[in-house]
Amino acid sequence: MAGTAQIGVTGLAVMGRNLARNFARNGFAVAVHNRTASRTRDLVEQFGHEGTFVPAESAEEFVAALERPRRLVIMVKAGAPTDAVIEEFVPLLEPGDVVIDGGNAHFADTRRREAALRESGLHFVGTGISGGEEGALLGPSIMPGGSAESYESLGPMLEIIAAKAADGTPCCTHVGADGAGHFVKMVHNGIEYADMQLIAEAYDLLRRAAGYQPADIARIFKGWNSGRLDSYLIEITAEVLAHVDAATGRPFVDIVADQAEQKGTGRWTVQLALDLGVPVNGIAEAVFARSLSGHAELRAVGRDLAGPAPATLAPDDAERFAGQVEQALYASKVVSYTQGFHQMQAAGAEYGWELDLGAIAGIWRGGCIIRAAFLDRITAAYAKDRALPSLLADEQFAAEIGAAQEAWRTVVATAARLGIPVPGFATALSYYDALRAERLPAALTQGQRDFFGAHTYRRVDRDGVFHTLWSQDRSEEQQS
Ligand code: 6PG
Repeated sequence: MAGTAQIGVTGLAVMGRNLARNFARNGFAVAVHNRTASRTRDLVEQFGHEGTFVPAESAEEFVAALERPRRLVIMVKAGAPTDAVIEEFVPLLEPGDVVIDGGNAHFADTRRREAALRESGLHFVGTGISGGEEGALLGPSIMPGGSAESYESLGPMLEIIAAKAADGTPCCTHVGADGAGHFVKMVHNGIEYADMQLIAEAYDLLRRAAGYQPADIARIFKGWNSGRLDSYLIEITAEVLAHVDAATGRPFVDIVADQAEQKGTGRWTVQLALDLGVPVNGIAEAVFARSLSGHAELRAVGRDLAGPAPATLAPDDAERFAGQVEQALYASKVVSYTQGFHQMQAAGAEYGWELDLGAIAGIWRGGCIIRAAFLDRITAAYAKDRALPSLLADEQFAAEIGAAQEAWRTVVATAARLGIPVPGFATALSYYDALRAERLPAALTQGQRDFFGAHTYRRVDRDGVFHTLWSQDRSEEQQS
């Protein structure tokens, strides 16, 4: 069956296997290959009836099975394993062929690989794929980077297997050149971390401040899911909270160790935001909150530190408080997305990508982990003004947050009073207030820098760069 498969997938762990099945179920002939051949055989044995699979045992066989220009998707672990597979296949390929990396690669690796393969006339497409195993099978959100030419050959296939938004639009678009797809996927994950942290804080407040039990909180989240917070993460939160551990009969959430792990994409988002000089406070606090939760010894020595005695609100106040938490959650969520979109905007300028932020919000409406009804609104905001400097500059978002801000402040203040940590809510509110401030204390920071390091400052009333002669006890200023 040489040269008949329209696409190939190498790396048949659960994501690769499900992606191959998705292509096959959509009528594409798919060449399948795995380093351990038994996995390839298992796939064909179990799911061969779903479509046309062309199993290949060797790299040569796999490449020979593909129609030209070849399209092959690599679904192996990010990092060295991806490089090893690329090295194995590149000598077997011809100019015009398209190599697709569907893993969670670091965008700098994708840029390096794209440049290297371009030298041999090959297209390298680093693509974000979100939605977990179920998404890979039933329709993920797909964020391909690489050349526009590669998208012409690959895009239509990806759009067919992608999730569809409620209006039927495929959740796949050509994001931008070289590493743009992986960068955008990374920011998606950063926002995912922030969303999850905010939801976790809302749960903690409803439980410890309002005194609700997990089953009650599940019902509250379910209710929120039919409003403006409608999203996959809110939906699954309700399910996780309603789940009861079969072995103990206790709420599932109470038998899980409270130490959150991470594979690293949230951390990358923050590292790169620092390099770009973009404040992504919400994502950073989410990464740090996971990190703090994992420091068991640190927590053990801190457990006896002084703080307010545990107390819950009066039952009459609990319901009102739950409504305020919803408002704080929504406002903080808008701030997190504002920060993530700012980071993409800055990366676009830095790396020369023409990112269409409205289209990116559009392809996150279905399939991916952060899919949410309110993404439509982000698309609409960028449709009104493609160069919108910040989501908070959109009238509608500004009005909504304005309406939520009092409740938001009450929630953060209540948490502080009761000794419940809310790093996500609090940092989002501080970001909002910092943007509102007429003057920031950064002026004092500049004064200190000039005092101890002659780092100079700018004045509000004159142009130029100034330094004060502090050691001579003179307020005289020098223009340097
Ligand atoms: C997705 C997910 C997926 C994965 C992340 C997060 O979009 O399908 O984001 O990429 O779940 O790796 O995992 P961690 O929480 O372990 O970093």
